[in-house]
Amino acid sequence: MVKINNSLEFHLYTKNTSYVMKVLPSSHLVNLHYGKRLRHQKDFSYLYQNFNTDIGNSTNYHQNFDPFTLDTTRLEIATSGKGDYREPSLHIEYEDYTTVSDFTYHNHRVVKGKPGLESLPHSHGTDAVETLIITLKDRVKDVYLHLNYHVFYATDVIVRSTTIENGEKGHITLEKAMSFNFDMSHSQMDFISLEGKWIREGQINKRPLHKGITSIDSKKGVSGSSHSPFICLTSKDADELHGDCYGFGLVYSGNHQCLVEVSPYNLTRVHMGISPFDFRWTLDKGELFQTPEVIMTYTPNGLSQMSHQFHSMINKHIIKEQWQNTERPILFNNWEATYFQFNEKKLVNLAKAAKNLGIELFVLDDGWFGKRDDDRSSLGDFFEHRKKLPNGLSGLSKKIKALGLDFGIWVEPEMISIDSELYKKHPEWAVKLLDRSPSLGRYQLVLDMTNPDVVEYLFNALKKVFTDGSVKYVKWDMNRNFSDVYSNHLSDKQQRSFNHRYVLGLYDLLNRLTDKFPQILFESCCSGGNRFDLGMLYYMPQTWTSDNTDALERQSIQYGMSHLFPLSAMAAHVSGEPSHQVLRNTPIESRFNVAAFGVLGYEMDITKLSVFEKKVIKNQIVYYKKHRKLLQYGRFTRLQSPFEHNQSHWMVTNDNQSEAIVGYYQKLQESNSGFEALKLKHLNTDYDYDIINRKQYINVRHFGPLINDEIPIDIKVNGLVHNMISNRYMYQIEKHTYTVPGDQLMSIGLLPQHQFVGTELNENIRYVGDFGSRIYYLLSNQEK
Ligand code: DGJ
Repeated sequence: MVKINNSLEFHLYTKNTSYVMKVLPSSHLVNLHYGKRLRHQKDFSYLYQNFNTDIGNSTNYHQNFDPFTLDTTRLEIATSGKGDYREPSLHIEYEDYTTVSDFTYHNHRVVKGKPGLESLPHSHGTDAVETLIITLKDRVKDVYLHLNYHVFYATDVIVRSTTIENGEKGHITLEKAMSFNFDMSHSQMDFISLEGKWIREGQINKRPLHKGITSIDSKKGVSGSSHSPFICLTSKDADELHGDCYGFGLVYSGNHQCLVEVSPYNLTRVHMGISPFDFRWTLDKGELFQTPEVIMTYTPNGLSQMSHQFHSMINKHIIKEQWQNTERPILFNNWEATYFQFNEKKLVNLAKAAKNLGIELFVLDDGWFGKRDDDRSSLGDFFEHRKKLPNGLSGLSKKIKALGLDFGIWVEPEMISIDSELYKKHPEWAVKLLDRSPSLGRYQLVLDMTNPDVVEYLFNALKKVFTDGSVKYVKWDMNRNFSDVYSNHLSDKQQRSFNHRYVLGLYDLLNRLTDKFPQILFESCCSGGNRFDLGMLYYMPQTWTSDNTDALERQSIQYGMSHLFPLSAMAAHVSGEPSHQVLRNTPIESRFNVAAFGVLGYEMDITKLSVFEKKVIKNQIVYYKKHRKLLQYGRFTRLQSPFEHNQSHWMVTNDNQSEAIVGYYQKLQESNSGFEALKLKHLNTDYDYDIINRKQYINVRHFGPLINDEIPIDIKVNGLVHNMISNRYMYQIEKHTYTVPGDQLMSIGLLPQHQFVGTELNENIRYVGDFGSRIYYLLSNQEK
């Protein structure tokens, strides 16, 4: 995994990739290759490319090494002031106010396994993991950079981070400290990122790289949904199944920047890390600064393979051990069922209905504390709303448990309402400036997580809530971005470090809570996916992907998010009709068929379901339980994109390829449409597979007066009989069961029956309809 040549060449290799570096005669550390696995060579210097002559007005580094300019050198760390005019990844101001740095090789060491990081979330693992730490030192100042490379052999991942150590007598100031710098020699690439906003997260943003800088960032205080801290660079010919893909994901939850620069010499530089915007960090003598980690992965086999590598990495080396491979419960959440209007009786009735449907966990959302009847008050107060919960949390929790359900709770700890007991007591804990009136977001202010007293208060308050409620699950919400950034706790000089210190305070709290309550399953939420990142996943193995649960929109959101995140990390709910976010009606079976590719939940008034809906949901839950492992942990492959097609497909396969589940989704019904073939992937060419479509039902109300064509009596639409029939009658979709060899499913495809063409409808005709969908289960004959 780490091989080192005498000439100070470092070859990091995973199962299928190689990362090669070299120390130059000038002692600069450069990159020679990142990509396909290379056979190890005793000398890799043939991979080094640079100019052997002066180039016009370029700056030569030093006469001892002439001709040599840093501007055309593929550096492993980039600073400014010595002739590299590209974007620096590290910018230091020394005590003498100078800002020129020049870091060269000092020493290196190899460590087995993966050392942890104290204050930041991090990758972990022992099996087949090796660490190389290369230390560089500034030529003049006593400042050291420890470049950390962690090689995760089996998952084809290299994790990078940088530790900056100040050995100077005086202080130094970090103006910019990115996690890594990576320079490569290709430039003809596309840049893919995930952009979005509230209720529209995870949208794929693809653009060609041009000379100059392409970058995404967050200045919101959280990682944000405008741009997730993830990018991918691909060759021009890349698609889901082919082509070079370099993926980079940052393990961090605050302001970030991901930057790519193509130089005039067709070199491409990649940076990622804490955003330099409004960032300044002072290191006194002997102090260290640790940057967040970046997960890097490469594959020549397309985007789905890249995602698979990320998913394995997250499931095995980011998620904490106790949650790895554990089946996540199916939950009911009362938010869209009641919003703030509930009492114990209503909740218990919902819980009874949930139990009856087969649900396993009941989650009480916002509004259970203080005097919170809307979103204008009580954040920060962790005592029960006695009018709603006369028996307190423990009384409610006992009733829920007595029904055979686990109990979970919503909290929004990082916030404070001005109308709260906490604000009366500690107005100085709110983030706001002394001389400006603060801007509000959802009527609330952010708590100063840089202050250890705040962290301590939250730890104790939450400990009590989690204990009183015998809580098994926590939804950790966060509903506003930062403004008016200022901390009463920090000195004037420290104010510019607020954003990062906030994140460290949050991580400290999460460390303490997850240590104290290892049995609690935490789900991170930030108005949906506004802080869906690898940092939060370290503490909370799942995230509320989006507040948007519309079956159509969720396809794109989950499809996009799956570029980085595994299904086990994406919470997905079946909600009511119409969707509260877009007022669209979609079939209840489609709402499930989308949510089933994730961690399933229900979020609607389930005390008011029709007989039809109850039966449908019961069946869905039985199906999900039966295939849960596969749906949460299977190898996920995107087959056809909802961003580009009227029909989209994706699938999951288990490790030994004996089982698979395919999701098929349609936006709009087309008249008299043509034949379709779903070309599947990752099946075993030697196996035959039985294909069985999930038993789904259509509510006959959908057919309007056409119901009279099927039934001999005349039924008045929306009349008593019509309502009775449509509430109870289970009209089953076509049956599609056949057996096909795996190789044919991949080359020819899964061939569904033709769609309804406006004439008859029977069990051999596939009526999909607007926003319709199917799930196909594949079982190989090896399993039978
Ligand atoms: C925003 C979340 O995303 C919702 O699911 C819900 O929990 C509300 N907050 C509650 O205020």
